[in-house]
Amino acid sequence: MINIAVLGCGTVGSGVVDVFFKNKESLEKKAGQELDLKYILDVRDFPDSLYADRFVKDFNVILNDDSVSIVVEVIGGLEPAHEYTRACLERGKSVVTSNKELVAQYGAELLDIAHSRHVNYLFEASVGGGIPIIRPLHMCLAANRIEEIAGILNGTTNFILTKMFREGVTFDSALALAQKLGYAERNPADDVEGKDACRKICILASLAFGSHVYPRDVYAEGITRITQEDVAYAAGCGSVIKLIGRAKRGVNGAPITAMVTPAFVSHDSQLGNVDDVFNGILVRGDATGDVVFYGKGAGKYPTASAVVGDVIECAKATDTSPSLRWEKSNGGNVAPREDNV
Ligand code: HSE
Repeated sequence: MINIAVLGCGTVGSGVVDVFFKNKESLEKKAGQELDLKYILDVRDFPDSLYADRFVKDFNVILNDDSVSIVVEVIGGLEPAHEYTRACLERGKSVVTSNKELVAQYGAELLDIAHSRHVNYLFEASVGGGIPIIRPLHMCLAANRIEEIAGILNGTTNFILTKMFREGVTFDSALALAQKLGYAERNPADDVEGKDACRKICILASLAFGSHVYPRDVYAEGITRITQEDVAYAAGCGSVIKLIGRAKRGVNGAPITAMVTPAFVSHDSQLGNVDDVFNGILVRGDATGDVVFYGKGAGKYPTASAVVGDVIECAKATDTSPSLRWEKSNGGNVAPREDNV
């Protein structure tokens, strides 16, 4: 029997609980083990929940219970998520997360701890919502030298751009709808100012190029300054405006270039047709050429799907995946921000 704990019962956390219990039988078959979701940590009360008896408020109950071997961190933000994740990994528990802010900032450090304790730190849900991208990039495309990654990495801004410019909805009401549908971050400024997409391109670049790319080193601009005139001008050029995160390997030892900016994208290109909450991620490998990943990039159940997939991966694992790591960078691996714009 494998016991699991979920830290945080917000949009993603409650989705994880729903998917776990809905599909428990088939998950157990896939894991080859009996599974139980023993604890749900949240500071709030959920008296009407079907699982009310599993809620706890004290993280130490989970940390000190050695029967819990997989912890799902879906609190979001840096603290206390960082402290809790470190503590769980050091205690020999695998951790699964959707927390892109934490992975983008502390991924190298947390992967090192996981590796040293022979447990997993998995974050498929941190990029692209329900789209499998982390494991395909790390495993299925492992034969390639990855040259470039470019993508629509934020569902909320893509939803807003689609609603505003195809349906004439105002920015504020499109954002309010994205919040209501559970797409936006707790602080939606992170979406519309490009910070969320920045964290995601940092994770993909770190994974693809093997050296930690920090959000502070990457120029990021959101969609708040895009006007109707910009969109009309783009349309006149056969293009649409999309918020694009891009990272390129430096040639001949040059540093990585990475940025997030609104960009003209040809209407008939692969990314030009990615609308609403969908994300599209193009990965260019030296052997494969272009590979494009497409699907729902945000939302309760798409994100929960990626989280629960990682839980099953942990439950099946007999040891950590030692190659899912990248070097801590000491700076200088990314070109100066101003050179990227
Ligand atoms: N706020 C994020 C987005 C959630 O809209 O893409 C998924 O990471």
